[in-house]
Amino acid sequence: MSETSPKLRAELEGIPTYKPGKPAAAADGPVAYKLSSNENPYPPLPGVMETVTAAASSFNRYPDMACTALLAELSERFAVPASHLATGTGSVGVAQQLLQATSGPGDEVIYAWRSFEAYPIITQISGATSVQVPLTPGDVHDLDAMAGAITDRTRLIFVCNPNNPTGTVVRRAELERFLDRVPSDVLVVLDEAYREFIRDTEVPDGVEIYRERPNVCVLRTFSKAYGLAGLRVGFAIAHEPVAAALRKTAVPFGVSQIAQDAAIASLRAEDELIGRVGSLVCERNRVMGTLRDQGWTVPETQANFVWLRLGERTAAFAQACEQAGAVVRPFPGEGVRVTVGETEANDIFLKVAEGFRKEL
Ligand SMILES: Cc1ncc(COP(=O)(O)O)c(C=O)c1O
Repeated sequence: MSETSPKLRAELEGIPTYKPGKPAAAADGPVAYKLSSNENPYPPLPGVMETVTAAASSFNRYPDMACTALLAELSERFAVPASHLATGTGSVGVAQQLLQATSGPGDEVIYAWRSFEAYPIITQISGATSVQVPLTPGDVHDLDAMAGAITDRTRLIFVCNPNNPTGTVVRRAELERFLDRVPSDVLVVLDEAYREFIRDTEVPDGVEIYRERPNVCVLRTFSKAYGLAGLRVGFAIAHEPVAAALRKTAVPFGVSQIAQDAAIASLRAEDELIGRVGSLVCERNRVMGTLRDQGWTVPETQANFVWLRLGERTAAFAQACEQAGAVVRPFPGEGVRVTVGETEANDIFLKVAEGFRKEL
């Protein structure tokens, strides 16, 4: 037998592995809540379970590869042509398709850092080079520096709004100013995974921005507000050449029929969705207010999570939360991202935060 292993692409070397949020402890352990993956704590919206159960009876068949019914629903919902829509296995799947469609070795991809941890991974897989632009001291995208980082090699720029993991946003005027500086042959991806949680009226809806700008693509997902994280369905809204390229790079039959039907049922349960998102926003504001009362400096979050800069104490804090019954997401040496979840779960986190504050 030969000693050599199959030749793999050199670009794969050193790729950071995606760290999923740690699951809550086993049933026989202490009560544990998962506040580590920005998931929705609510069960599926009314009607969704029934739809999913019905769709499950035919999973011996391939799904509708073109996601026709879902695209028709989204087309009406967002008032965009169906040809401007493309779906994928979660919005991270769509983001990967965008990289495949635009970037390869020698090309550059710009994004803020720290931001969504999939960006460096999927960029490296594409063979392109990451250009990471540090957030401002206030943990916000530094759009001037990002515009300044554009070169002839730039192919794609991610703007994560709100930003994961800080929850901070970029507002209309600064985003428009930035977009005016981006050459028209560079794709700007507005990643709006947490769009539904935004209450700041100065934050633009990417769908409105895309209408006037052919080099802007908006990413949305059913994983967060809609509570379908486990079914893997996200989508992009973009002008024709980009949307067509997304269809070319899609994994055939990537979005299951269960996911497609559940997404449609969730869109039709929008009143309930708005109610739930409203409750989570109230909880978020309570959590943020309590942390500030405790003396923490917390960046203003418009998402379903909060960011605590803990530096060297990050790991100890995450461990203390876990012991108390809530699993959070540590970024070692930097801080923790904590999802706004059930009230009891948020209270566990707040109690740990209070204890740590007193020790400072
Ligand atoms: C900013 C951002 N974009 C995209 C995603 C991907 O979500 P999904 O692939 O489940 O749609 C996430 C998930 O955490 C995220 O935080």
